[in-house]
Amino acid sequence: MTSTVTATASNETHDAFPINGTDYIEFWVGNAKQSALYYRAAFGFTLAGYRGPETGVRDRASYLLVQDKLRFVLTSPLGPEGEIAAHIALHGDGVRDMAFGVDDCRAAYAAAMARGAESHQAPVVAQDPDGEVVTAAIRTYGDTMHSIVERRNYRGLFLPGFVPMTSPFTPQGTGLKYVDHCVGNVELGKMNAWVGFYERVLGFTNILTFDDKTISTEYSALMSKVMSNGNGRIKFPINEPAQGKKKSQIEEYLDFYRGPGVQHIAITTDDIVATVRQLKARGVEFLKVPPAYYDTLLDRVGRIDEDVAPLAELGVLVDRDDEGYLLQIFTKPVQDRPTLFYEIIQRKGAKSFGAGNFKALFESIEREQALRGNL
Ligand code: FE2
Repeated sequence: MTSTVTATASNETHDAFPINGTDYIEFWVGNAKQSALYYRAAFGFTLAGYRGPETGVRDRASYLLVQDKLRFVLTSPLGPEGEIAAHIALHGDGVRDMAFGVDDCRAAYAAAMARGAESHQAPVVAQDPDGEVVTAAIRTYGDTMHSIVERRNYRGLFLPGFVPMTSPFTPQGTGLKYVDHCVGNVELGKMNAWVGFYERVLGFTNILTFDDKTISTEYSALMSKVMSNGNGRIKFPINEPAQGKKKSQIEEYLDFYRGPGVQHIAITTDDIVATVRQLKARGVEFLKVPPAYYDTLLDRVGRIDEDVAPLAELGVLVDRDDEGYLLQIFTKPVQDRPTLFYEIIQRKGAKSFGAGNFKALFESIEREQALRGNL
């Protein structure tokens, strides 16, 4: 019903790699101008900043979108040359960077390098009249990065180089608040290597493990380990495909992303019914579960504060663990390749990830996979 193995968070007082939280997520996309409008119109983000040729950057354009504590950066190249164009040609639109906010970039980078991180960029200082930001970056799975951002001496909008940009088109927010977790898909046999990377290099702890018996339907199977940083603000489940009768949803992702990458980003809300109603009204597409899921819902999860009817109407899933319950729903992929999607999650005490919903959820994903001819 729930997870296979639960480990309590480390009670070590020394955090080997202190991270304040997710600083931003950067996406490399084919047309950032249009993607920015999608995230604003559909997800309720606000346009806040811009960097591009008009501000002196010759090879790319970036849009900064914000909603509550969320910061998304959408970047496109201005020509076929260079790493961004190559990334998009190979992967399609996707997550390039899950940036960590830290107090001391140089110390964090040095600690990661001493523990075997692969550098993408040594610390650099960027300045403008609002102060300075120190950034560095290390590599993680596939072509994905973790920037390390120190902004304690900066009063500006985001990063030097970005200028404020607003628009008369300002759709209301949808109640999305902050990143709960970001899930990575890696190749068969590579999960433990990346679990080891987060443990060894960044001092994360494996807080939860799902084996292929927990997470398997008739066809599709996967294994997953959830890694958490010291203060629990960064949670990275790492998935790998497991042997099933047919193609795992993780293999489908790996085929279409052409390698490992970010599978989904889970974002919190305080009112999932209101948030999902808004998102649906604005065109966000969600996975559907069979109505029968709701017939026995309360028998499975016990008493909940919400009425079941709106949850059933919207397709919101519920799961319970020892500490409480959670409500969650998953979008369809947000680009034509069946790669990145979103989870909307409302936690009511539960600290887990909805393992009780895996079967219903994966059967739903498989129906979509079959429609795409990939099962
Ligand atoms: Fe998730």
